[in-house]
Amino acid sequence: MSQEIEDHRLLNQSNNEPFSSILERNVSRRSIMRGGMGLAAMSVLGGFGLVGCSDDDVVKPGGGKNPLTLAFDSIMGRTGDGADRIFVPEGYRAQVVIPWGTPINNSVGQWSADRTVTPEYQANSVGMQHDGMYHFPLSEESASREFLMALNNEYIDQGALWFPQGGPTNQGSGNRPANEARTEINAHGVTIVKLSKNSDNVWSADTSSRYNFRYTSATPIELSGPVRGSSYTVTAYSPNGTLARGTNNNCGNGYTPWGTYLTCEENWPNVFTKASGRTIDDDRLGIPSGRSRYAWETAAGAADEENSEFARFNATPTAADASGDYRNEPRTFGYIVEIDPYGNTASVGTEAAALKRSYLGRFRHEGAWVGKLEAGQPVVFYSGHDSRNEYIYKFVSAANWDTGDANRPGENYDRLAIGSKYLDEGTLYVARFDADGSGEWLPLTPTATTRNGQPLWQALGLANAQDIAGVIINTCDAADLMGATPMDRPEWGAVDPASGDVYMTLTNNSDRTAESTAATFSNNGSDIGGLGVAYHTAPVNGPNPRADNGAGQVIRWREPTPAATTFQWEIFVFGAGANDTDNLSGLTELNQFASPDGLWFDDRDEDGILWIQTDNGYGPVADNTNDQVLAVVPSSVSKGPGDAAVIDPADQAQLKRFAVGPNGCEVTGIFATPDKTALFINIQHPGNWPAEPNQNVQDALINTAGSVRPRASTVVIQKLDGGKIGV
Ligand code: FEO
Ligand code: CA
Ligand code: CA
Repeated sequence: MSQEIEDHRLLNQSNNEPFSSILERNVSRRSIMRGGMGLAAMSVLGGFGLVGCSDDDVVKPGGGKNPLTLAFDSIMGRTGDGADRIFVPEGYRAQVVIPWGTPINNSVGQWSADRTVTPEYQANSVGMQHDGMYHFPLSEESASREFLMALNNEYIDQGALWFPQGGPTNQGSGNRPANEARTEINAHGVTIVKLSKNSDNVWSADTSSRYNFRYTSATPIELSGPVRGSSYTVTAYSPNGTLARGTNNNCGNGYTPWGTYLTCEENWPNVFTKASGRTIDDDRLGIPSGRSRYAWETAAGAADEENSEFARFNATPTAADASGDYRNEPRTFGYIVEIDPYGNTASVGTEAAALKRSYLGRFRHEGAWVGKLEAGQPVVFYSGHDSRNEYIYKFVSAANWDTGDANRPGENYDRLAIGSKYLDEGTLYVARFDADGSGEWLPLTPTATTRNGQPLWQALGLANAQDIAGVIINTCDAADLMGATPMDRPEWGAVDPASGDVYMTLTNNSDRTAESTAATFSNNGSDIGGLGVAYHTAPVNGPNPRADNGAGQVIRWREPTPAATTFQWEIFVFGAGANDTDNLSGLTELNQFASPDGLWFDDRDEDGILWIQTDNGYGPVADNTNDQVLAVVPSSVSKGPGDAAVIDPADQAQLKRFAVGPNGCEVTGIFATPDKTALFINIQHPGNWPAEPNQNVQDALINTAGSVRPRASTVVIQKLDGGKIGV
């Protein structure tokens, strides 16, 4: 769903051998080696797993002492007739729970397929277009049978939302009606709802739970970290620059070890318009200058408009200074938002137990993933900017991890205060990947030295070396100036908590060009160092080695310690169609995939399963299957010296297709209960599903008959015998 704005810059190629030729040479050497060596020997020779290993260590990227084996057969791809349903391996079942529009309390009546959705109904029911999600236990003992679900509602399907009236009013031109705009605003955001299972292992929402809450694109949320109270975030609504309204386009997610949820503002620029008075960050991030995505700004001036609820989406200056208009409204978006799902508001002056944690940077945040936790060491979070040729970031806390801060499920205390300790002081870095498999985290601090030898604050045109808020507002230009590596659209990350290995999906990039081509730039720029200028196209580089990359890849890196500024990286798997000439991981009919997006490391007793979800539009794969969920045990595969990626043609039995979604959907969002008996996934933008349009809980394996009002939904996959998923 990403909208584009591009950013590109020539990678430091220096005199390194081009990655593509290394690849070619290594692939052929690998084939030769296969002739004379067994897999065990290949494994011992494996890639960066050797770093830090003693002689008797076997290379196990997962660090596993209790090796896992996937005990299901990879399923066939599915699409077309008969595929308006979920597919899972034999011995599994799947149910729908909390589809869009499921009430989260008893104030607004029941869902029905012919219901007209009002602002009030939507504010009290599950939002649209489910994406990232996570579970928060009410007690250790009950954690696998009941929990608080925090669920992102990324964007809206206007066709489904306005189904009874045949579509939205004045979407393309004219003024949107105020109540349509309000309803759409309320369909975005985050849903907090308690889920529990009954004695038949059927899951449903508990509408009587006091924890149930809706965050929408209108909910007041305080800013935190460097931008709080700065001149950059002054608006007519918050003249002291401390308060924002709403969270928007919440895509991937994360969680903290202290029991809070991290939701991530991704394609938020598109809900704004700014025709004049644009700043460099408006240009760098691509705030539209014409009609916004849903044209909410056109409802401004409606007779019942309250507190500029619609006018704020038009950021064009109209007053003498920022305290009289909404020129800075876009600067209150683009953050990681920390939410206490248990609802304790002791740290904030709002009804919402949430803070926008600006120190983690301002861009199109896909998600935020906590690194390996070590007592007495900083806590780190990885995140990525999902646009073509954008970057990967890491935040390192100033405070060291105190195990006494770990979540105490169900207890009522101020978790956001703990969050302030770890998330409001620290250092933000951006990644440079070098062609030799090493990399460096480049600090985004005002006094850091840019590639051109200038202090970063000066290069950004900031007033002084204390202006960390200015660096955060201009995170993307700061990263350009430091020499970050443009990536193939960073989507989700995942961390193996035992080894600390970090995985990240790079979903695809149609603006990746061939080796040695010159980069091109947005906004008529001629150099990535230009302020407000991003890469439009960028040539292949180490971790992004395929031009016009339609199928994407998953990369992996390892750092010596969580706070280290160096790392070693490698490609874990390349997406491809089975018959593609650049099917570098050797995928087959049973596991071909493209556009990896969702990712989760399912930690199991010092080993684990890496789950990969797709959001694919790449023809050679899309012609064969709808979007899917795949599984691999990383400790079962390792990179030989000649492999293009960790998963190579000999590893096809290790990468298995576990589930396929209905026609038209994207599969995204994933976690399992602590006992591993229930795997939760989300089905976003299905075309004609789920099958029973009036029910909130139903069998997900039934194919839709006829045509229905589609509803994004969570799906719970369990074994018929109640056993652990995947093994
Ligand atoms: Fe909303 Fe990057 O996917
Ligand atoms: Ca720039
Ligand atoms: Ca995504």
